[in-house]
Amino acid sequence: MNASHDYQRVYVWEQPVRWFHWINAASITALGVTGWLIAHPPGLLNAGEASGSFWFGTVRFVHFAVGYVFLANFAFRLYWAFAGNKYASWRNFLPLRKAQVRQIWDVLKVDIMQSSDKPVHTLGHNSVAYFTYAGTGLLTLFQIVSGFALYASMSSSAFPHLFAWLVPVFGSEQNLRLFHYAALWAFIVFTLIHIYLVFYHDYVEGHGVMSSIIGGWKFMEKHKAAAEEAHGISAFPEVKAAPPPVPAKPHATR
Ligand code: HEM
Repeated sequence: MNASHDYQRVYVWEQPVRWFHWINAASITALGVTGWLIAHPPGLLNAGEASGSFWFGTVRFVHFAVGYVFLANFAFRLYWAFAGNKYASWRNFLPLRKAQVRQIWDVLKVDIMQSSDKPVHTLGHNSVAYFTYAGTGLLTLFQIVSGFALYASMSSSAFPHLFAWLVPVFGSEQNLRLFHYAALWAFIVFTLIHIYLVFYHDYVEGHGVMSSIIGGWKFMEKHKAAAEEAHGISAFPEVKAAPPPVPAKPHATR
């Protein structure tokens, strides 16, 4: 029989992070499907009026329109990295503290090498996850800038032209398109591993990781939650655990 635990319910993912997550996931799915169709256009024929067979135009329109949503959502998450709670803070995404770097090895032993059965308990993400999301953030940035750079030559709006400088950096539109396409596969690989790992962590740790990205709450044994709040990688540097009480000095007697 499983041991019973005295769990504390901690509000970790605020509503803006959860909205960001699901808008991001939906945008990537829409951009991935429409982007793949643009790269591999199927030769669909029908006997109708040519003007009634403009589906490929619709696919391209959806790709470009969702590109704006993807950009706005990402910009909002960057803002929330400064305005949100400590779990959402930008500090966690950069290797600023020794504890974050040390945790990488502990997580890899459980997740990848499976040589340890001691799960790493964190209320926010663990440091491997934070650094991976920093990587997907850079990938997102590249995909946005390269996407708008490719869009510039076919758009009369001013905004995409702000990114047109990237085309000569890559030598030609075709070269840039190749990298934009490769990033699609990087997102697909990330998504497959990401979904596997969140299910795995939910199962191994039992802290409600999976439901946290819907409702915001995680559950952790009270003593672990207190230690994590004070010293965990999501703890603000200025938050210190209360020092142990200093025993009163006995009065000197003569
Ligand atoms: C059915 C699909 C998905 C599920 C079930 C899922 C689940 C989750 C869960 C449970 C977390 C929180 C993990 C934790 O507390 O440590 C999370 C975070 C995250 N996921 Fe997903 N996810 C999905 C799809 C995606 C996709 C498609 C992307 C992007 C390619 C993505 C990107 C992210 C990012 C960037 C975070 C960190 C959020 C932040 O801190 O702002 N997810 N996901």
